Amino acid sequence: MTQPNAPDYVKNSKLIAWVAEVAALTQPANVVWCDGTKAESDRLFAQMVEGGSMIKLNPVKRPDSYLALSDPSDVARVEDRTYVCTDEPDDAGPNNNWEKPEKMKETLRGLFKGCMRGRTMFVIPFSMGPIGSPIAHIGVELSDSPYVVVNMRLMTRMGRAVLDQLGAEGEFVPCLHSVGHPLETGQKDVKWPCNPTKYICHFPATREIWSFGSGYGGNALLGKKCFALRIASTMARDEGWLAEHMLILGVESPQGDKSYVAAAFPSACGKTNFAMLIPPKSFDGWKVTTVGDDIAWIKPGKDGRLYAINPEAGFFGVAPGTSDKTNFNAMATLKENIIFTNVALTDDGDVWWEGMTKEAPAHLIDWQGKDWTPEDGKAGRKAAHPNSRFTAPASQCPSIDKDWENPVGVPISAFIFGGRRSTAVPLVFEAFNWNYGVYMAATLGSETTAAAGGAQGIVRRDPMAMLPFCGYHMGDYFNHWLRIGHQIEHAPRIFTVNWFRQDAEGNFMWPGFGENMRVLKWVVERCNGQAKARQTTLGWMPNFDDLDWSGSEEVTREQFDELTAIDEVAWREELKLHAEWFDKLKSRLPRALTLKRELFELAMMD
Ligand code: GTP
Ligand code: SPV
Ligand code: MN
Repeated sequence: MTQPNAPDYVKNSKLIAWVAEVAALTQPANVVWCDGTKAESDRLFAQMVEGGSMIKLNPVKRPDSYLALSDPSDVARVEDRTYVCTDEPDDAGPNNNWEKPEKMKETLRGLFKGCMRGRTMFVIPFSMGPIGSPIAHIGVELSDSPYVVVNMRLMTRMGRAVLDQLGAEGEFVPCLHSVGHPLETGQKDVKWPCNPTKYICHFPATREIWSFGSGYGGNALLGKKCFALRIASTMARDEGWLAEHMLILGVESPQGDKSYVAAAFPSACGKTNFAMLIPPKSFDGWKVTTVGDDIAWIKPGKDGRLYAINPEAGFFGVAPGTSDKTNFNAMATLKENIIFTNVALTDDGDVWWEGMTKEAPAHLIDWQGKDWTPEDGKAGRKAAHPNSRFTAPASQCPSIDKDWENPVGVPISAFIFGGRRSTAVPLVFEAFNWNYGVYMAATLGSETTAAAGGAQGIVRRDPMAMLPFCGYHMGDYFNHWLRIGHQIEHAPRIFTVNWFRQDAEGNFMWPGFGENMRVLKWVVERCNGQAKARQTTLGWMPNFDDLDWSGSEEVTREQFDELTAIDEVAWREELKLHAEWFDKLKSRLPRALTLKRELFELAMMD
């Protein structure tokens, strides 16, 4: 059996014992304790380049940056292979796949037995949140993927400092990961090892994660969705806080007033874009700053407000559609020290994806390693996978907020919820009160994207953008939300937005991106009691003249009326879907939400 050889500085006997136990089960060729240094990461990159699983990009164009191309079968989170294992199925709820913990462990032990043969097992200590801060939590990922190590170094605070913080007695969340592709003696490795059998499993009672078979994104970088959302949401329920799929941004007025908002949009619906928004030129003196682009941990502060921190240290953002025009700050963040996954490679050793430039380069190597020309593009073959991503250090973002690492967090004035809806949902409205806002968030719908699998463009309910990420019964989660709002003295206001409404020809009616500032400004001014609105059946809505249109020629009064129209026929349909959705959760659905739905139905019939 391989001895895990813990370095002298590792004092945590629970960790040492667990590493030894996993090494005995998975039988790696050796065990490496990651220190988190650049030297270590450079060494791993060099080994991966040598082995053919990473491409080093042109150091002049993209210093210290790399490209990985995944197996075509391993390109996104696999929600149908994701499990929450609680004693009772109702504790996981209809929103999760479920298995009994002992039974799942048995299956997993079978799969993990010898699964790291011929590979190195890396011990990856990481902190979600600044190391040592009272809101941070420590995890240790054991993984046989060097790709995971170099990504975790950018996405979390990773390395020896975390073990020092952990000390002899500290608690950590054990995160076990394998690509599930052992190498027998002499067997050559493949470019992207993975296994057709995949299991992404969570054990909330013991706060453990086991992930098998995938090397991609949230399946493999276990600090992100598995820990910071699924496990953390159950911790938050038990301890009275919130772990949410939300970006966090700051808005500063020309007078220097600063407000923070947190916004939940489902995967690939614009969180990274919104978090890094650049206001239109005419918004002289207005500034938007970035705290986080995907996950927020939100805790009540002593002053009766909610405070949010970004538990991550990097961005794992969608590449396609990102350009100097749509997200200048993201493009600036991507200048160096980046890992790209599944984008296309240019002839001069740089990267490209659909939407980066208007014209595609004359020749590329696509995400599957094949030659690609604009002709292929015209025939519908994408150069970059639609869920191709960049991994980037948050500190490189030009709009990063000065308080993004403040352990106290930033005070939240508003929650914004928004999905991808081609019909029915108006541009923006504000809930009448907290319960009503929770209702709107609980019934949030969005047209599906790559990670959900199956058909695209179908509306599914994605409450708080948390459907794939809530680690317990959604009905209990709604209860938790209702309770939090009533426990705190200054609850944030709650808004719904929709950037994706389409006209009869299928064109987006709202220009989006930087123009979203007009809506954002109204939102913060509502919170500060400065902006006007009219009352509608859905909530408070701006009149055309309540938004700041300075410098805009894009949206006319008529278009705005269409964007904000309440289509009562569509809403009556929508309310039926809410009822169907609630029916699925009925064993634990708060009565306050059922009543809201009925009142809403009555209002719609007036
Ligand atoms: P995850 O990382 O998967 O959680 O996604 P995300 O919510 O961060 O999504 P992201 O910001 O990467 O946006 C993904 C897609 O939304 C890209 O194709 C963008 O071009 C598009 N998008 C972002 N903002 C807007 C907008 O305001 N209007 C329109 N029409 N599209 C937008
Ligand atoms: C998402 O799907 O919401 C993501 C990407 O942010 S992943 O990290 O793969 O979950
Ligand atoms: Mn996300």
